[in-house]
Amino acid sequence: MENFEDFESRFRNVAPKQRKHTPEDGFNKNKVVNQVLDKSTMFTMYEMINARIIAYVNGIVKAGKESVLFWAVDPKGKDVALKVYLTSTSSFKNRAQYIVGDPRFLHLKKGTRNLVYLWAKKEFRNLVQCEKKGIPAVRAIHVSKNVLAMDFVGTNGVPAPTLHETEVDENDYHQLIQLIIDLYKKAKLVHGDLSEYNVFKTENGLILFDFGSAVDTMHPNTQNFLERDIKNVSYFFAKRGLTVENPADILAKIIS
Ligand SMILES: Nc1ncnc2c1ncn2[C@@H]1O[C@H](COP(=O)(O)OP(=O)(O)OP(=O)(O)O)[C@@H](O)[C@H]1O
Ligand SMILES: [Mg+2]
Repeated sequence: MENFEDFESRFRNVAPKQRKHTPEDGFNKNKVVNQVLDKSTMFTMYEMINARIIAYVNGIVKAGKESVLFWAVDPKGKDVALKVYLTSTSSFKNRAQYIVGDPRFLHLKKGTRNLVYLWAKKEFRNLVQCEKKGIPAVRAIHVSKNVLAMDFVGTNGVPAPTLHETEVDENDYHQLIQLIIDLYKKAKLVHGDLSEYNVFKTENGLILFDFGSAVDTMHPNTQNFLERDIKNVSYFFAKRGLTVENPADILAKIIS
């Protein structure tokens, strides 16, 4: 791609509702995109297009407080999920506890922006670690600054349903508990933010995602995080009417 203006033309259907208020080349004046994508983030995406990690960006899938998910497409036509961590958010300051103490991140640079970049890198590394150890989590493709590229789980820009959005059964419960165990024993990780909102249910089984909070099992708070993950998951399945094992017993079995 020749220049930055070309890059702007690679955004298709971004926030369609806002679009009718914008001129033909209206990307710049698009409120949602402007709020989400500062120049630096746009440049990061531009570099990802030049590196042929993606060919273009199709639109925003979900906008949260801390991140925005974009649907992009790679040069072969395969869907890619771009998780853009917002550098403007203050909530990252509370997140130091998930990084300080992790032996993989000993040298920390100061500043919110750097912490956000580190957070994205951490999610990337956690996902790679899962892939290496055969844990079903979304496959990470690339990370640069605050932009994480992953396989898109879903079709036509619509993410696969999470456990929260689907019917669940006993099999899902057992699968998820086994995933927590495998994550701990094989990948030496604790998710740290596990809930029905961060697990896709697909034809090929459950797929974990949202690994920014995941910590190495050497982390001093591992046990608390693990306990919370098990409790969250257990409460969810109990709420849906399933019989669940006592979370304390599961925890004891894992760490013994
Ligand atoms: N690889 C992916 N493929 C398809 N959809 C995805 C992917 N990763 C995330 N999503 C979608 O984006 C949403 C938010 O992703 P994620 O949970 O990683 O971010 P978050 O910052 O924790 O957001 P939230 O606060 O809503 O949990 C998910 O609920 C899911 O629908
Ligand atoms: Mg999430």
